Parts: sequence; C-alpha cells; structure tokens
Amino acid sequence: MGVTSTLLPLTRPLGSLQVLSMYNSMDMINTSAVLSSIALVFIAAVITKVAWGRITARPASRNTTPHPPAISGSSIIPLLHTLLTKGLRAMLQEQYTKFGSVFTISFFGMKTTFLVGPEVSAHFYQGPESEISHGNILEFTVPMFGKDVAYGVDIVIRTEQNRFYVDALKPAKLRCHVAPMLQEVEKYFAKWGQQGLVDLKQELEQLFMLISARCLLGKEVREKMFDEVCSAFHELTENSLQLTSLLFPYAPTPMTRRRDRARARLSSIFAEIVRSRKSSNRVEEDVLQNLMDSKYRDGRSTTEAEVTGLIMAILFAGKHTSTTTSTWTGARLLSHTECLEAALEEQQQIIKKHGDNIDYDTLLEMSFLHCCIKEVMRMHPPASIFLRKVHKNFTVQTREGYEYEVPRGHTIASPLVINHNIPHIYKDPDVYNPHRFSHGREEDRVGGKFTYNAFSGGRHACPGEAYAYMQVKVIWSHLLRNFELKLVSSFPETDWLKVAPEPRGKVEVSYKRRMLPRSMLKN
Ligand SMILES: *[C@@H]1O[C@H](CO)[C@@H](O)[C@H](O)[C@H]1NC(C)=O
Repeated sequence: MGVTSTLLPLTRPLGSLQVLSMYNSMDMINTSAVLSSIALVFIAAVITKVAWGRITARPASRNTTPHPPAISGSSIIPLLHTLLTKGLRAMLQEQYTKFGSVFTISFFGMKTTFLVGPEVSAHFYQGPESEISHGNILEFTVPMFGKDVAYGVDIVIRTEQNRFYVDALKPAKLRCHVAPMLQEVEKYFAKWGQQGLVDLKQELEQLFMLISARCLLGKEVREKMFDEVCSAFHELTENSLQLTSLLFPYAPTPMTRRRDRARARLSSIFAEIVRSRKSSNRVEEDVLQNLMDSKYRDGRSTTEAEVTGLIMAILFAGKHTSTTTSTWTGARLLSHTECLEAALEEQQQIIKKHGDNIDYDTLLEMSFLHCCIKEVMRMHPPASIFLRKVHKNFTVQTREGYEYEVPRGHTIASPLVINHNIPHIYKDPDVYNPHRFSHGREEDRVGGKFTYNAFSGGRHACPGEAYAYMQVKVIWSHLLRNFELKLVSSFPETDWLKVAPEPRGKVEVSYKRRMLPRSMLKN
C-alpha cells in the first residue's frame, strides 16, 4: 500500500478538526479526533518512512501580498511533540508567540491557517458562504440528524432552519421557559438531603437532560419516555463521535449500525409525538412546538422528519456545552471566595427586592452571575477551535500592520483557546475575574467585535446564547440561595479530549442546606 493510499483518508480527519461543528449554532471540535488523527498521520509517516514533505511555502512574488508564515517540513516535528505532550493550547500558543496572529501549519499538503484575535477574524466569522464555509467537514452530522436538516440540506434551507431556532429561542419565547425550568431545578434538588457529598458534574448532567426534555423536547418525553429517549440519544451521540464513524460515516460498522438504530428509534418517537399533537390539536409551549409551527418563506410547514432532525440537533448542540459550562461555573465560584461572596451578595439584593420569586426579568438582573458564567466560558470555552474552508483568496491585516493573503483551499481556524487569552485584550488572562466583563470595564467590548467567541459570531452566532445563560442562571441562583457548597476535590484539570473540554474526573462538592432568604431578612 503506497503512502498516498494510506494518507488519502487522513485528509478527512484533519478536516474533522471541527468535527462537532454543526449548524450555525454549536460550532465545536472534537479534539480527541484531531489528536488521534494527527498522531495517526505521524505514525503512518514514520512507518512508511516518508521523507517529510518539504512543502515550504513558496515566497510570494514581489508585487503580491505574501502568504502567512508557514510551519512545514521538518519543523512540524517539534510542534507535534508539543501537541502530544502539552496539548493543543500550548502548541498554538508557541506558534502565536513565534509568528504572530496569522500563521499556517502545513501538513502533508493540508494547510491550516490560524487567525488569532479580532483584528484578523472578521472575514472568518462574516465572510459569505461562497467564500468561507464549513465545507464537507460536517458530513458526519447527516446520518445523525437525517438528510432533511443541517448539512443534509442546501444553504438556503439551512439558513431558514436556523431562523426557526432563532425564533424559538428569542426572548419573548424564553420567558415561558423560566417557570418549567425552575420547577425541574427545585424538584431535582429537593431530592438532595440536608447535607451530603455529590459529583457536581454527574448531577448537573442529569438535571440538564431533565430540563431539556421539559423545555425542548416536550412533556410527552419528560413524562413518559425520558429514560428511553436519553438512552437512544446517548447511543446516537456516542456512536457518531467515534473516530471511525467520523472518518467513515457510512461504513457498515457495528457503531454506525447502532447509530442508525438509535436515530430510527428517536425518529419514530418524535414523529409519533408530532402526529399526536397535530391530530388532537394539542399545543404545548416547548421548542418542539415552535419547530412544528415554523414555516418556510414559501409558506411550507416543517415536516415530521425535519422537526425530528432539528430537535435532535438542538439537544446535541446544547447538552454538553451547557453541562460543562455550569460545572465549570461551580468549580470556579467555589474556589474563588471573593467571587462566591459577590455572587451571594447579588442574590441577597435581588431577594430583598423581589422576594423568592424568580422570573425572566429577575434573571436578567443577575448581572454579576452573568459575568461569572461569561468568564467561565472565556477560560473554558465549550469549543477549543472553529474551522472553515476558504473558497476565495482573502487578505488580512494584523494589528502590527502586516498584510497576508490567505489563499483558497486553506482551512482556516479560529482558536478560542488563544483568542480568549490575548494579554492586550484580557488583563491577566490566566486569572478568573468576572469583573473584567462588568459595566464600565467590558474588556471584550473594548477589544472589538470577535474578541469573545464562546458563542461563535457573525453569520454563525449561536442562536441559543440567551437560552444557555438563562438555564445556567436558574440552576446557579437556586444552588447559591439554598445550599452552602464547598469544592472537596481539587480544582479540576481540563479534559481536552472531550467534545466540549470538560473537567477531568469527578467534581466533588459537599453541600449543606441553608435558607439564604431567611438569614438575610433577619439582618
Ligand atoms: C489565489 O491565490 C493563489 C495562490 O496564491 C493564486 O495562485 C491565485 O492566482 C489567486 N487567485 C486570485 C483570483 O487572486
């Protein structure tokens, strides 16, 4: 077997740097796939004794804009070493320090140009689909959610479907989710004892599925089919995100068969619910209903298959991201006393004003808690990197005034792990400090558009941002008000190998019930 045939399929894994990116919303990568595929290419190269390609970038001719500095040939080896020993962030940080905000990593003809910081990111996030797109990187989502949604349909339909999400998750609609969310949260924590020890990560994961079932999927699932839907959904994602399924989504492996079975099961469950609601003229206040009621511009209604695909995709996009963000919020708050106290103080002020009642507007008043969550997503972004494919040459100018042309054919990458830690934008980036986002300071605003990318941006801005904040705030305001919490395990390390880089291992937290409102009123 020649080198070419060994390496051919491997152009996909590198493309799969953004494996998980789906829809405009959740635009994330599976780092494990990246690391394993890079390792695989590396091993393949060593075994086949490939002379490492001396594909150094040709110097651009005098009159044209130069290409970005490129790392290629044998200089790739130390970079791979850093990647495999210290991780993606350290590797990119090294290159950024060395080459500045624009550089290309050239790897067996696959050229990925990294664009670091707001000055060079506008085109990445705003460029039209004909010039910048996800390419075929997201093809693995087609067997997950079906041919009727997302990357199974053309850009025109996809844009309309994104509008359905935007409409379903706009503030006017979000208001009606607060009460059911609160009920789920109260019911869940009512099961905790007077005091005890829990793995916060596991608890929040369960709670998120319950909230999602109620607010997104609807009460039929929440009340009657919760376990079945959870397990089918788990089967669907687990089997879709394995390296082999990502690389060969249609190969007849046991994994793709399990994935297809899970999707078929979910499809029939949701089709049944949609049918039953329609035939009995029952209307609910969940996102499933919003998707059922959505209409294309030509007046056509969404089909059962589309509703099913759209609802599975939104669950997929929201689940890991929200769970990890709320777990990190706990880990951070509980290890920064001063922040924890400020967050408690804010809750007390709000209770003084509104009593125990929490509604949409009270949640909006929790601005410090909001900053705490935002700061968590700066340091622990739900995705490490976003990727696109370049279809038309474009030019970027760096902060220092250098101009580079990024040619078509390159993959471009916006590395959040570096963007969110640029010292001239974020003061002391390694320090958890929610105040950096508070009124009057707002480091991300000062830094300009595309400084903060946790929810992507521009054309691909996540439509679930407000929903996500609302959900995490409902949970954390409840926890702060009702429990005295302590982080028992040490501050978690990041598991970069997970879909949304999550805290590694258990996040053990001890709790003791308290009544914040009462103790406050006594003072
Ligand atoms: C785009 O860039 C490539 C590589 O530098 C170059 O060969 C090509 O002529 C450029 N195309 C246009 C339209 O400028």
